[in-house]
Amino acid sequence: MNILAIETSCDETGIAVLQKQNKKKCLDIKVLSNILVSQIHVHQKYGGVYPMLAKREHQKNLTPILEKALFEAKLLKSLKNKQSTISPQKLRTIEKILQKNQELLSPIKKSLLKYKKPDIKAIAVTVGPGLEPCLWVGVNFAKILGFYWNIPVIPVNHIEAHIIANWVGRESESIEQQVLNTKKLFPAICLIVSGGHTQLILMRDYGVYKIIGETRDDAAGECFDKTARILGLSYPGGPAIAKKATENKKSKQLNNYQIKLPRPMLYAKNYDFSFSGLKTAVLYDYKKRSKKITQSPEYIQEMSATIQQAIIDILIKKTIVAAKNVHAKTIILGGGVTANKELRYQLKEKITKEVPSVNYLIPHSKLCTDNAAMIGAVAFCNLDKQVNWKKINVNANLSISNI
Ligand code: KG4
Ligand code: ZN
Repeated sequence: MNILAIETSCDETGIAVLQKQNKKKCLDIKVLSNILVSQIHVHQKYGGVYPMLAKREHQKNLTPILEKALFEAKLLKSLKNKQSTISPQKLRTIEKILQKNQELLSPIKKSLLKYKKPDIKAIAVTVGPGLEPCLWVGVNFAKILGFYWNIPVIPVNHIEAHIIANWVGRESESIEQQVLNTKKLFPAICLIVSGGHTQLILMRDYGVYKIIGETRDDAAGECFDKTARILGLSYPGGPAIAKKATENKKSKQLNNYQIKLPRPMLYAKNYDFSFSGLKTAVLYDYKKRSKKITQSPEYIQEMSATIQQAIIDILIKKTIVAAKNVHAKTIILGGGVTANKELRYQLKEKITKEVPSVNYLIPHSKLCTDNAAMIGAVAFCNLDKQVNWKKINVNANLSISNI
């Protein structure tokens, strides 16, 4: 069974084709193609994502990516007798769906006329949380395909997808696959950290989630992005700060500038986070020093290492406390920030030391940031949620909690 998955919730346009052979829930998912077009270059000069620009880019990218994803999955077959038109009735429906995404119309029409209906059983699409104008582009695109190919659509929660990214692309004999196969997987504590979210989620079973803590202001990724901007580093800030922090480590520089940053809410008796104070503290430190210092590579490296460590300390502490309190069997990471090597490594060390019996799952680095493969994987876990394309809606603030 093949599923086509679409992701447009933020600034990455993604389409993937996934296949599942095994009947076991969520296991044995094969990625036939996973195409991603990043818009980083478009948003770089704004230091963050600009929703209307992102919408425009998604509209431009989707049809070429669809063809590429189907081609790589060996499912793109040209029609022998190329149709010249779509029936007026069908065209009216397509035009109605695309009322607010006119730019999609001409390319998708051409593509539908050129190629056969592929061997796809359902379409998975992110319906939230995310940037509303961006989500609608992907959802309307899914509606067109669902309607034209006459197949169901499966709505996917983007946060659930960051969790289920851990189920994708595992070697059959790997430790991770063994963990996924065990009955000792749940309850799990999921730490989801991205540009828009920082959440601790209790996962009791497949599809059973409860948010037990989240950020009260900025997300951790947003903190990386904003502090990187203060330091004059490029967007996205996470990888830029991580790189400078590594340089700092390599240069074996000692704490020359004595930079001290707070760890907000570290000892608060809850699982919530707050990162805006950390960003303000970076700004204060930056402003109190001379330009000569703040523009020196040494200061930027040391500040980057200090920011990264402060964020890591907060994320690790809260995750371990939550895992202990709920007697978690597994700690699961997901989201762009969990591509951070230091975070991955330091959390592993902490688990080994403090909760050695707890399993640890981290996605492949390239599946931490937004992609469509993770959206398709959730759809395989939620095959019972298939609906007619007419019933799909967007919810920019969609929550994962359902208990
Ligand atoms: O999950 P994601 O691709 O998009 C959202 O759903 O937001 O996450 C993007 C975020 C950005 O804030 C970016 O700075 C951060 O993930 N990020 C990182 C790293 N790679 C991406 N943060 C820290 N270290 C990284 N290596
Ligand atoms: Zn994301």
